[in-house]
Amino acid sequence: MSETVNQSILPYTAKINEDNHLEIGGCDTVELVERYGTPLIVYDEDSIRKCCSQYKNAFSSYDKTKVLFAGKAFMTKTICHIVQEEGLGIDVVSGGEIYTALKSSFKMENLYFNGNNKTLDELELALDSGIGRITVDNFMELAILDNIAKYHGKTVKILLRITPGIECHTHEYIQTGHLDSKFGFDLTQLDEAIELIKDEYTNLELVGLHAHIGSQIFETQVYHDLVGIMAEQFAYIKDKFDIELEEMNIGGGLGIRYTEGDDPPSIYQISEVIVNSLKENIKKYSINEPILIVEPGRSLVSASGVTLYTSGSYKQVPEGRKYVAVDGGMADNPRPSMYQADYKAMVANKAGNDPEEVVTIAGRFCESGDILIKDVKLPTVDPGDIVCLLSTGAYNYSMASNYNRVPRPACVLVHKGQSDVIIERETYENIISLDRIPKRLTSKTLEGSM
Ligand SMILES: Cc1ncc(COP(=O)(O)O)c(C=O)c1O
Repeated sequence: MSETVNQSILPYTAKINEDNHLEIGGCDTVELVERYGTPLIVYDEDSIRKCCSQYKNAFSSYDKTKVLFAGKAFMTKTICHIVQEEGLGIDVVSGGEIYTALKSSFKMENLYFNGNNKTLDELELALDSGIGRITVDNFMELAILDNIAKYHGKTVKILLRITPGIECHTHEYIQTGHLDSKFGFDLTQLDEAIELIKDEYTNLELVGLHAHIGSQIFETQVYHDLVGIMAEQFAYIKDKFDIELEEMNIGGGLGIRYTEGDDPPSIYQISEVIVNSLKENIKKYSINEPILIVEPGRSLVSASGVTLYTSGSYKQVPEGRKYVAVDGGMADNPRPSMYQADYKAMVANKAGNDPEEVVTIAGRFCESGDILIKDVKLPTVDPGDIVCLLSTGAYNYSMASNYNRVPRPACVLVHKGQSDVIIERETYENIISLDRIPKRLTSKTLEGSM
């Protein structure tokens, strides 16, 4: 079976052009830097669209599948447009993500709201905007949501998030399906939750179960097992409560290839395991065919994005490492310092040159831990060269901060030689725009200066 976008380190349209520069979406990255500056996150539209259609094709053997994009990976108005055009829904986890979808004219019935501590305002916004589903995470949220729904005279379709007790081999911070997790109901708590929904929370309609077992997952067996556990719960709930659940949401999590050492399954391989397990378990437990929902985030957008930095100062430790510092780092890409994530790099203006030296790419932020890649073999990196980190389309911009009051990068979308800004570069003015000085301090300053 052919490679899918999540198995590629480079965007689908990437190539080295006649100027020895990295080109993406028909755009020379060096020209992009001249035009937009650095750090710059470049998204290849073709890769995003191709990945959406790979997901849809891969699951076409089970025609009751819905694919949602997990917006937390990279939520912008443009992405909402693209995924809507490709026929996907979106999984959101905050009022800000709901608002982004609303403002991009996304069909709200295709929005699914997750999260372990949704605020009252966020739940109100969700209800007001006519959101498709809310996945309820805990007992307190059940009570609150029912209250709000009653107040609005609405019945809300909900899923219950469960912790299925599956441990997958990924970083501890991105594991979520094990029993000792902050997310979801333990299976032993399901009876009580369902009894409450049946007897007291009459403005809630239970339509399904949700689980998400983690992220950057390379194993397929865990998905096979997850579907089995969920089907067993569907059968149990039907038997005990006479409720035929309609929706089985198995979350996201499919891994991607950040470096050559990563070997994620293809979207086709993972879908085959999931669909086969579902078909087997539908028979085994004699349940109705549910709507199968998958929520990929990382695998849908990561490979489509690269980050371009300008290399600045460097330091050669006597008989030690050579550190090459770039004009970004942990504030635009916190993943290496947060969970030791690995990346691959290129020198975009010397894209076809042979690797000549081992360097460590350091960020510009005031933390020793702000290292983007340790010991990577690259062509000689001179000040002013364009260092390109690959597979930075997911959980980079969406996790970015203004640490050290450094403006966040711009994001551009490239397609057939055209580039468009989809998120403007922040300015110093943007950074101070929410600062306020209490009047009593300014008047003191005035007095002091008299
Ligand atoms: C509930 C839920 N669904 C989907 C995702 C997307 O996961 P991934 O980006 O690994 O596909 C996440 C990620 O944390 C999540 O928490």
